[in-house]
Amino acid sequence: MFYVFSNPQAIAEHVSELLIAQIQKKNDSVLGLATGSTMEPVYEKLCEQVARLNVDVSGLTTFNLDEYIGLGSEHPQSYRYYMRQHLFNRLAFAQHRTFLPDGLCADPVKQCEQYSGQIQQAGHIDLQLLGIGNNGHIGFNEPGTSFGSRTHVVPLTEQTRIDNSRFFDSLDEVPTQAITLGLQDIMESKQIILIATGTNKAQIMAKLYESPVTEQLPASVVKAHPNAMILLDEQAAQFL
Ligand code: GLP
Repeated sequence: MFYVFSNPQAIAEHVSELLIAQIQKKNDSVLGLATGSTMEPVYEKLCEQVARLNVDVSGLTTFNLDEYIGLGSEHPQSYRYYMRQHLFNRLAFAQHRTFLPDGLCADPVKQCEQYSGQIQQAGHIDLQLLGIGNNGHIGFNEPGTSFGSRTHVVPLTEQTRIDNSRFFDSLDEVPTQAITLGLQDIMESKQIILIATGTNKAQIMAKLYESPVTEQLPASVVKAHPNAMILLDEQAAQFL
């Protein structure tokens, strides 16, 4: 389940090939997408290979994992903005089938219910990409989140806000809440690929490697999935 690659580029190439194989097998696949710096080389490689191989992505439906509450889609740190920049504006996606929670929605709780419902109606996610937070979160499911959780509103932990403040001008600007897919929604995906790169993920990956499946370490739930892979580069794998 744990696979070590020499560097982030090698992971990006492999994951891009897996994504393309999925799309070629089923051109109306439902993809679960993640944001963060870990995914940038993956989307870069995917854009390159889709263009080179002339892969048709217009039948895909995508659901993103999470979004900050309080940031609109034009805010450069919103995840909708990130997705447009790294993927949606670069390939011929059917934009109306690219779903993310709306950070400015008036009734986030109702929206959460609808979001989980939309994924179920789409027949569940065929392939879910995941990064990991330094505290073991996936999406924004922080330690202690129930494995039975559906899409929900979360207060962000101080650690997560500090980690993500590198993308903002100051810590004060980092939102305090987000909407995230729940752990049960994630686990209903048919396949999961979790990626961790760089030395700053080395400690959490060693912990994940040793850990039993426990709500104290949300990413550990992936170990209980029948079709999941955890891909690390050598730096993230250094304490395994
Ligand atoms: C954020 C996101 C997660 C992501 C994590 C790691 O908190 N909500 O979905 O996996 O950060 O991000 P990065 O890849 O930038 O390390």
